[in-house]
Amino acid sequence: MSDVRKGLAGVVADVTAVSKVNPETNSLLYRGYPVQELASTQPFEAVAYLLWHGELPDADQLAGLKSAERRLRSLDPDVRTVLDMLPLDAHPMDDLRTAVSLLGAVDLAGSGSVLDAGGSADDNLTRSLQLFAALPAIVAYGQRRRRGLDLVEPRDDLDYAANFLWMTFGAESDETVVDAFNRSMILYAEHSFNASTFTARVVTSTLSDLYSAVVAAIGALKGPLHGGANEAVMRTFEEIGDAAAVPAWLDAALGEKRKIMGFGHRVYKRGDSRVPTMKAALDSLVSHFGRQDVLDLYTALEDEFVARKGIYPNLDYPSGPAYDLIGFDTPTFTPIFVASRITGWTAHILEQAASNALIRPLSEYVGPDERHVEGYVPHADELAIADRPEEAG
Ligand code: COA
Repeated sequence: MSDVRKGLAGVVADVTAVSKVNPETNSLLYRGYPVQELASTQPFEAVAYLLWHGELPDADQLAGLKSAERRLRSLDPDVRTVLDMLPLDAHPMDDLRTAVSLLGAVDLAGSGSVLDAGGSADDNLTRSLQLFAALPAIVAYGQRRRRGLDLVEPRDDLDYAANFLWMTFGAESDETVVDAFNRSMILYAEHSFNASTFTARVVTSTLSDLYSAVVAAIGALKGPLHGGANEAVMRTFEEIGDAAAVPAWLDAALGEKRKIMGFGHRVYKRGDSRVPTMKAALDSLVSHFGRQDVLDLYTALEDEFVARKGIYPNLDYPSGPAYDLIGFDTPTFTPIFVASRITGWTAHILEQAASNALIRPLSEYVGPDERHVEGYVPHADELAIADRPEEAG
């Protein structure tokens, strides 16, 4: 039996200059910068620029990105028509996947051949910016549509985070809320070869197009072991009810061998480096909205679970209740993650395309031994293949 690494655990699949996760020092660097420094000092637009270009923007570059993003914010009318056709109880991740697929089909129409699908690095940078700008309107409209509310047009006098909230709630959000939301977008933006990013790189490695890679990545992120966990955290909170109910709930959940959502990480084993920054944002929202009960439940579950299992919270644990306090519906949490992670995904798509090798691992076969269909007589050419010399290169 060869050395099979189930789940590719511990496998280094390629090099990347986009981000570095260091479980030993509990740090996460985007292009060399600690993520908590970026979250405390930068608008999300500057972090998008950093991930795509490798450097933080100067004032002119940031102004250029902001004005381009503002021009591209409106909900595409065709996307709106298609979203309106989807059932109201479709998951918002399915809305988003469908919308990106539509945008790709329209943008790539006329490309003629799959050989043209990949596009140049400049084309893909433009597409990255377009998706970055387009996703908030899709996410915001999705939540409004489900609540029976109409579309809110974007405001071009607001930064990305403030405008995202404006389009979702139709009212200007307080500075505390905008700041917490901006921080969360930065913390979710990038995390090396996680499952959805790796999915995007696999698709890109076949020379397929950027939209196909993003659609596939959205599918990967939907799962509760990945992006869906922040949604699952809120369901857990709803199920538990309040802090006093935590011990009995945990007894039952662990007795049933349930995974407690928002805890544990494939790479970090001593805690997720993004949690303290997001927890501080949650604290500010708790005092802004006067919801100590949320913090009590949060703390009770964390303390009890860490004491029993020694497994620490990941970013989804504080971001779930934070998004709930801001006013997002629980199924909208993972689409928000997409609107953030589009920056990291596209940075990796650009990196993969610039230095490509088809990603195609091997597997260890454990099925039945070779056997034959009764009466089949092999053709002489089939027998000859076994005698060929190996292909050169
Ligand atoms: N709740 C309960 N037990 C957990 C756990 C959790 N959240 N996370 C890990 N464990 C336990 C497992 O049951 C397993 O125990 P065992 O050895 O007795 O079987 C052990 O810890 C190792 O877990 P495993 O799932 O094999 O580790 P992994 O590296 O594959 O898992 C996750 C990483 C993220 C998939 C896992 O921690 C998890 O499912 N967490 C909940 C979902 C989540 O929050 N995802 C967001 C990730 S950012």
